[in-house]
Amino acid sequence: MASVVVVGTQWGDEGKGKMVDLLTGFAHVIVRFQGGSNAGHTVVIGDDTFIFHQLPSGILHEQKRCIVGSGVVLDPVNLVEEIREVKERGYFKDDRVLLISEEAHMVMPYHKRIDVAREKKRGAHKIGTTGRGIGPAYEDKMSRMGIRLVDLVDDEIFREKLERNLEEKNFYLVNYLQDEGFSFKELYDQYRALGEQISCYMANTSLIINQAIEQGKDILFEGAQGGLLDVDHGTYPYVTSSNTVAGSACVGAGVGPVRIDRVMGITKAYTTRVGGGPFPTELDDAIGNHLREKGGEYGATTGRPRRCGWFDAVVVKHSVRMSGLTALALTKLDVLQGLEKIKICTSYTFKDKKIQEFPASLRIQNECEPVYEEISGWEENISTVKDMSDLPLNAQKYLKIIEQLVGVEIYMISLGNERSQTMMLKNPFYRTRETR
Ligand code: IMP
Repeated sequence: MASVVVVGTQWGDEGKGKMVDLLTGFAHVIVRFQGGSNAGHTVVIGDDTFIFHQLPSGILHEQKRCIVGSGVVLDPVNLVEEIREVKERGYFKDDRVLLISEEAHMVMPYHKRIDVAREKKRGAHKIGTTGRGIGPAYEDKMSRMGIRLVDLVDDEIFREKLERNLEEKNFYLVNYLQDEGFSFKELYDQYRALGEQISCYMANTSLIINQAIEQGKDILFEGAQGGLLDVDHGTYPYVTSSNTVAGSACVGAGVGPVRIDRVMGITKAYTTRVGGGPFPTELDDAIGNHLREKGGEYGATTGRPRRCGWFDAVVVKHSVRMSGLTALALTKLDVLQGLEKIKICTSYTFKDKKIQEFPASLRIQNECEPVYEEISGWEENISTVKDMSDLPLNAQKYLKIIEQLVGVEIYMISLGNERSQTMMLKNPFYRTRETR
């Protein structure tokens, strides 16, 4: 048995959805532990594409227990919609497989409106948020104003909290953000009705996860976003409002750190970022366009074109340390096919000084120059390759360089959207090499 945490190692969109979907085959329980509907985990099965925002991707597998932990800020409007859609498409037939922490805080409509209005006010300095109300919802949690799921089923508490919140939010929305406020009755009626629809999923999820661990079950903790979007360790303030590093799995799921056995980092074979903020290896040229078009680099949640650039080992090394990665999964290697030369960023320079570790200063993050190692690319289509030894030599060399630079072994390689386009060299749920 093992507990494995899967996290993104760059700025999100590393292809976690597909890798988590594959690893779900080896787990009994799948847990989302942070973020909210800002996430967009894409899973492709045959001709069907699913984009999960709040439901663990494991929901496509029958009989797997899917849990949303207290570290997630839950948007009940989006959740009900997501549940309806997945059910309509013939999945999630048994309501008992989904459990949501009663301690999870809710995203309210005023959070979304504040998020969007604030971004507008920031103008050129906007963060580029997904507009899903994530920052304002986490702010309320930390300032002890938040409304939790468990409050939804207690009329007196819900009324009292909603009244108190609306007094403050309406004042802020109308007087500072020059936007519209909300009527109590409208929100009250909407959320009480939502409460009735989702109360069947509410549970003490920390207890259930810990019991599953004690029973020897395999647990997969599914992170959202990526290491460089972590509110403590990322490119602050151009980050999301939760901790995206592996340690967050313990807090957001309610398990102790010694319960975690392994941590797998998902890494794209190049780098992308959506929204504002520093991006040292960004390519504003034909190669950037090649990566965007061939890689389908458009936001799963917002549809925005993603910024694209070379693989940055300084960024991934930062995530290796912050999350204590024990394994890597490399995605979208196929997208690099057809490039004559491929560059890998090994360090930065700033004012003639060499920088080996990701800097904290926003100025240095913005103004540093990447130092590259260059290798030749490959022409062959690798999207159906099943064995490492059948990859072109230059692709093998690329993987070796990445492993050496970041100091973590590659366990899985993804060569396309389909489940079958994956090489599993080692399974993080087992210690031994997989036999194919
Ligand atoms: P927020 O999480 O909506 O507040 O957005 C803050 C920053 O995180 C923005 O740059 C977003 O584009 C980015 N972000 C949030 N969620 C994701 C994600 O799932 N993938 C990639 N970027 C994300």
